[in-house]
Amino acid sequence: MRNAILFEKTMGEMTIMTKEELIALAWEAREKAYCPYSQFMVGAAVLGTDGKVYTGCNIENASYGMTVCAERTAIFKMVSEGCRKFAALAVVGGGDGDSAPCLACRQVMTEFCESWQTPVYVSGPSGTIYSHTMEEICPLPFVMFEKNEDYHD
Ligand code: THU
Repeated sequence: MRNAILFEKTMGEMTIMTKEELIALAWEAREKAYCPYSQFMVGAAVLGTDGKVYTGCNIENASYGMTVCAERTAIFKMVSEGCRKFAALAVVGGGDGDSAPCLACRQVMTEFCESWQTPVYVSGPSGTIYSHTMEEICPLPFVMFEKNEDYHD
C-alpha cells in the first residue's frame, strides 16, 4: 500500500515512493558500507524535499572516532547537493537484532528534517519496518535557544 506521507511531502513533481521502497534503497546503500573494524553494516536513504533520494552507508576509520554513520552520510550528501530538508528517512542496520539511529545522527536529523512529523523508518534483520516521527525519536534536542519556542513555554 502506498504511503500518503511520502506523496504529500514531495508534491509538485511527484515522487511516488513507499516506505518499503525507501527502505529497499537503504538496504542497497548498505552494501557499500566500509566497516572493517566493527563489521556492522548500515545503510540509509533520505527523500529530499526536492524529490530526490540520497543514500549513504557507514564509513569507518582506523582512528575510530572519525567514523561517519550512514544517516549522516546520506544527509550530508543531500545538503551538499543543495537540498536542505528531507521529507522521510530510512535506515537499516545489521547485527543480531534491530537497532535505531544513534543520538549524534538524531541531532543532525533534527537540523535537516522538514518537520517534527517527518517520518523515520527503521529496519534490520527482522525485516520489520518501524515507523517513527522525528518528534518521537528526538525529544528535547539541542537547538539554538532563540529558535526553540517550545523550550521557553
Ligand atoms: N552506525 C551507523 O551507521 N548509524 C547509527 O545510527 C549507529 C551506528 C555505524 C557506525 C559504525 O560504523 C557501526 O555502525 C558500529 O557502531
